[in-house]
Amino acid sequence: QNSLSGQLTDLHEQAANLYHHILKNTQAGQQALQYLHERGMTDEIIDQFGIGFAPEQRLLYPFFEEKKVEYQLLRQTGMFAEDQSGKLHDRFSGRVMFPIKNQNSKVIAFSGRLLSTENTDMPKYLNSPETEIFNKRRTLFNFDVARKSVRQSQRLILFEGFMDVIAATRAGVTCGVASMGTSLTEEQISMMERVTSAVDVCYDGDDAGQNATNRALSLISEQSSKIKLGVVSMPAGIDPDEYVQEYGEDKLAEWLDNAKQTPVAFQMTFLKRNLNVDNEVDQLSYLHSILKVIANVPDSLEQDVYLNQLVQQFNLDKQTLQGQLQEVRRQVK
Ligand code: UTP
Ligand code: MN
Ligand code: MN
Ligand code: MN
Ligand code: MN
Repeated sequence: QNSLSGQLTDLHEQAANLYHHILKNTQAGQQALQYLHERGMTDEIIDQFGIGFAPEQRLLYPFFEEKKVEYQLLRQTGMFAEDQSGKLHDRFSGRVMFPIKNQNSKVIAFSGRLLSTENTDMPKYLNSPETEIFNKRRTLFNFDVARKSVRQSQRLILFEGFMDVIAATRAGVTCGVASMGTSLTEEQISMMERVTSAVDVCYDGDDAGQNATNRALSLISEQSSKIKLGVVSMPAGIDPDEYVQEYGEDKLAEWLDNAKQTPVAFQMTFLKRNLNVDNEVDQLSYLHSILKVIANVPDSLEQDVYLNQLVQQFNLDKQTLQGQLQEVRRQVK
């Protein structure tokens, strides 16, 4: 393993082991370990994800210096910030460290979380910069594990944050992945498409999460005709990790199975979010926009399900609705 990539992943593996050791076995890691336990993580989960802690004091630089690792190589790891004189400083300090792995389960980057976000303007999560081995666009957290569990689960679940992937794992659901805090990329969609034919989007139950769900659904459906999409909407205001805190791990597993919706069912709620549908103006604008969505559904039985819901919800005449749907279809053609 003498290639640059091989050397860089090797240094990441060493750093991950060191961070993990600091967390589990030293005084410097105590507070972070307590933090993780309070968030409901067992030692087993901490080991499984290789979670660690980067202490406030210098750690990696002296560690690698003693091992005589070349300065030029260290620079390229992304684990250091360089000052004006060219001196390297540990990039991560005072953060819980989550190793990010490639498809072969090798550590290629880190994301570090602050123990507390109070009284600071530093970002909650700090990610490694792009390097020779870390391309954010081609990385999905937990993809190495999830792709193997697809055969059994028959789906991938796309979460917003990796804390949610970890929460799902605690609930026995190991098919979760998360993009690295950015909007979903073409490359990530291709990765998913290679290993599964079903993706369920399960983002946070806040406005940002719902908007991101809408975006993810259209990105995936525009790029891939192979992936069958589903949505798991979380209760208002909470993410899957918070759901576990509130209701327990078994309930999250149930929720992920039972709360699954079709993308159109998601739209039926989503398109209403800024409207007052008791008001006729808003109601009509909602009906027009949801009919456009329904008109794109190829399965006529599925269409009928949604039409019936609208008939009931707004006390409409079904034939009128069907007629309008025909009209919308003619217009989009
Ligand atoms: P969230 O704010 O929903 O984080 O951002 P979270 O996963 O619920 O984290 P906890 O529970 O507060 O610890 C979702 C994702 O956005 C990215 C991270 O990848 C995070 O998992 N993010 C968020 C960042 O990259 N930087 C940030 O400062 C915040
Ligand atoms: Mn361990
Ligand atoms: Mn969020
Ligand atoms: Mn969240
Ligand atoms: Mn969270």
